[in-house]
Amino acid sequence: MSARTPRIAVMHGVNLDQLGRRDPLLYGKLTLAELERSIKQHARELGLATSFFHTNHEGAFVEHLHRLGSGADAILMNPGSWTHYAWAIRDALEIAALPTLEIHLSDVQRREPWRRVSVIGDLCFATISGRGPDGYRDALVLLHEELERRAQP
Ligand code: DQA
Repeated sequence: MSARTPRIAVMHGVNLDQLGRRDPLLYGKLTLAELERSIKQHARELGLATSFFHTNHEGAFVEHLHRLGSGADAILMNPGSWTHYAWAIRDALEIAALPTLEIHLSDVQRREPWRRVSVIGDLCFATISGRGPDGYRDALVLLHEELERRAQP
C-alpha cells in the first residue's frame, strides 16, 4: 500500500438518518451520528481516513458518486432500500469504479424476499449483512485488506 492514508467514502442512503427510531432488533440502537463516530474511530485504529455522506434523495446519492472521482480510494455503502431496486445508483457506482463493500445492519437474506435482491451486489467485492453496527468494523478490516491486496505489484 502507498504511504498515503487510504480514504474510505462511507455512504448511507434512504431512511438511515432515522436509525435510533427504527426497530432496534433489526437495526440496533445507535443513531446515524453515533454509528458514524464509531466507524471513524475503528477506521482511525486501522490507519484509514473516512468521509461521510447521507441523503434521502436518490439523485443526490448518485451525484455524490459522480463527484467522488479521485477523492476516495474505496466505498463503504449502505444504500438502505435503494439497494433492492435503484438501478441509477448501480450505474453511478459503476461509473465511480472504486472498490466497494455493500453493508446492511440487518440480515437482508432472512427478511422479506424483495430484500434478497441487490442491484449493486455484483459490483461489490464483498457484502456484509446482519452483523449490526459491529459489521462496519469487519467491513473496514476487509476494505483495508482489499486495498493492500490491490496495491501489490
Ligand atoms: C438496510 C436493509 C434494507 O432492506 C432496508 O431498507 C434499510 C436498511 C440495513 O442496513 O439493514 O433501510 O440497508
